[in-house]
Amino acid sequence: MNRPSAQPGPEPALTDFLTAHQLAAPGEAARWTPLAGGVSSDLWRVDLPGRSLCVKRALAKLKVAADWQAPVSRNAYEWAWMRFASRHRPDSVPELLAHDPEAGLFAMAFLPPEHYPVWKAQLLDGEVRVETAAAVGELLGTLHAASAGDATLAAEFATDDNFHALRIEPYLLATAAAHPGLSDILQSLADRTATTHLALVHGDVSPKNIFVGPSGPVLLDAECAWYGDPAFDLAFCVNHLLLKSLVVPGHRADLLRSARVLTEEYVRCVTWEPRPTLEARAASLLPALLLARVDGKSPVEYFTDDRHRLFVRTAASALLRAPAATVADVLDAWASALGAPTEPGRGRPD
Ligand SMILES: Nc1ncnc2c1ncn2[C@@H]1O[C@H](COP(=O)(O)OP(=O)(O)O)[C@@H](O)[C@H]1O
Ligand SMILES: [Mg+2]
Repeated sequence: MNRPSAQPGPEPALTDFLTAHQLAAPGEAARWTPLAGGVSSDLWRVDLPGRSLCVKRALAKLKVAADWQAPVSRNAYEWAWMRFASRHRPDSVPELLAHDPEAGLFAMAFLPPEHYPVWKAQLLDGEVRVETAAAVGELLGTLHAASAGDATLAAEFATDDNFHALRIEPYLLATAAAHPGLSDILQSLADRTATTHLALVHGDVSPKNIFVGPSGPVLLDAECAWYGDPAFDLAFCVNHLLLKSLVVPGHRADLLRSARVLTEEYVRCVTWEPRPTLEARAASLLPALLLARVDGKSPVEYFTDDRHRLFVRTAASALLRAPAATVADVLDAWASALGAPTEPGRGRPD
């Protein structure tokens, strides 16, 4: 990872971007190394004498199997979200260096993997620390609270079209199309989410977009930033922990505990609306997002076994038909479905 490869030299526009923003002197040696992992952007580590930085440029078409187009303007919203986060919690994003809105690119500090492990890799390796989940919940809740009721942010991030293209359609509506029997429920969750405008949502709070830094979590990848329903971020992140509980069975209890603690810390920060209202939205959205990661446009890549998919379909469908009131209730239902004896080969993963 992150090793120099035999790439042709960088496009002149990229070199010009660095010099135009005084991030490199004209003619200074810069080594551009593409970073793996992104599906929606080109990303480079740029090594200059004595320093490294990271440059991100949005792609017009995402690198996933299903056809999934998204406007390149999302790069500017990502930058704007990171600026917002850095004003409230400077350590919660990489240091921001320069932005070129016309070219759809920006530069930020490069955070070295030895000091900033990716949370997803830790979780899949069975390194499950509940404190990390607690810190993520607290950070997310703090950022939502800082943005709630802010008309300027609401106007700046009126990105309903982006959010529709990147989240509502590929997750909720694509899943509705795959499940005619649940289509009305999923459609109404999509409508409710799309028409709720309460706080600044990150939109991709996934462990793959979170570094576990020395001063707490660092959030990346805010291309889906949208002034909308904060319950979406909570449900989206908890969803990832639940899905991982199927494939890291030795750490299932820690993963579920992480989901619980993340939610508790988050909910503590909810001041902009009654906590039960927010919790009910997150709890009803969660099974929709679970099902979306099996039958939507962005299926989980680490499910190796159809029993995992069948388990998710069964548990999520039941919760969609009879929504839980709180995220904790969803976690209880998930845990009991995991623990319930089933006939061999039917429903129960691993
Ligand atoms: N500032 C950074 N420092 C170090 N690595 C980074 C930085 N930003 C991104 N990366 C690496 O690149 C990967 C993809 O970045 P991300 O912003 O999530 O792009 P995408 O939108 O394509 O998913 C991250 O998972 C991380 O490994
Ligand atoms: Mg990413």
